[in-house]
Amino acid sequence: MDPDVFRKHFPIFDDSVHLCSCSEGALSDRVMVAMSEFMTSWRVNAAPWDSWMQEVDRAREQFARLIHADANDVAVVSCASEGAFQVAWAERFTQSRSGIVTTDLEFPSVAHVWLAAKARGAKVQFVAHHDGTVGVEDYENALTEQTALVSVPLVSYANGFRFPVAEVARRAHQYGARVVVDAYQGAGVVPIDVQQLDCDYLIAGALKYLLGAPGIAFLWVRPGLDRGEDPALTGWFGRTNPFAFTPEVLDYADNARRFQTGTPSIPSAYAATAGLSLINETNTDDVFRHVETLAEALQGNVVDLGYRLYSPQNSTKRGPQVTVWSTNAEHLAAFLKTRRIFVSPRGQAVRMSLHYYNNLEDVDQITRSLREYRVAYPDGVK
Ligand SMILES: Cc1ncc(COP(=O)(O)O)c(C=O)c1O
Repeated sequence: MDPDVFRKHFPIFDDSVHLCSCSEGALSDRVMVAMSEFMTSWRVNAAPWDSWMQEVDRAREQFARLIHADANDVAVVSCASEGAFQVAWAERFTQSRSGIVTTDLEFPSVAHVWLAAKARGAKVQFVAHHDGTVGVEDYENALTEQTALVSVPLVSYANGFRFPVAEVARRAHQYGARVVVDAYQGAGVVPIDVQQLDCDYLIAGALKYLLGAPGIAFLWVRPGLDRGEDPALTGWFGRTNPFAFTPEVLDYADNARRFQTGTPSIPSAYAATAGLSLINETNTDDVFRHVETLAEALQGNVVDLGYRLYSPQNSTKRGPQVTVWSTNAEHLAAFLKTRRIFVSPRGQAVRMSLHYYNNLEDVDQITRSLREYRVAYPDGVK
């Protein structure tokens, strides 16, 4: 599917410029239809659990296809934090292997799960970014024979820095550590092949570049990985047969489903399947190239206007985001919103994120408004 055809699925572009996929992906016609199918199935069929569970499996399959994995290796969870919790709990944190190596560009929620594991004996180390980037050597300096888990995001939520995941994973494995990748800020626009990334777990939620709704996320687990501790956060969907209805028997599915808990969010599964189906009809290499071209153009424009970048300038390190510093990011975002241009402020930075549905017209429009803002509020630029 080419980008113009793709864009036509997103009605918001009739009157707006959507540059906030890092916060929430645009709503497509396909997701709207899927959500109404969910409601119709409920209205007409009262309790159609069989077809609802099939929809959850369709979402799982679509996600597996995107990351070049088998659907049996994907657990459907409610959010990335839940996926991270399951990963942390699988670790035993023995005296000889208690380290978690993460980064200060990690999304807080995931980092908080690592910190909470301190109660179970984990020792958490944050690899610090410099100028918004982290090198392989930064991770390497933190690795020891005691490292149990290495957490490396695919793309940072903060500034769109694209981590050297495969290289970090290779080093981490040399130390006998396991590697978890939070791919939330890349999945849907950055091509993902879990074999090439060489990670042990990969987590992503559906609501951003995957174009779904809140309430569902996916945890991929490398097949054959040592299972570690059995999940303490569990429920009937983690059983070998969830429909056995034997409250006295606690068994765990022998695939990634062991990490599942209770009833999944069915409406979110409908939205996830629909959003992912659109992505899976594109070629992810084309998507990434398209996004790269737009990011390069937008970056050039904002630098010319005098904005200072927080996102990496070098395209080999940049994900789908161009991020600029502002003395008042909320104010700048609100200014753009009055022109129906949607971006995402975070702290002192404004994140402008690009997807396959964006085009050079969007880049021109935001550039004009950023110029206006610069003139009206010269102190708003840092
Ligand atoms: C990189 C990353 N991970 C995780 C999350 C969200 O985590 P959760 O699904 O637990 O709310 C976000 C949301 O902004 C994110 O950007």
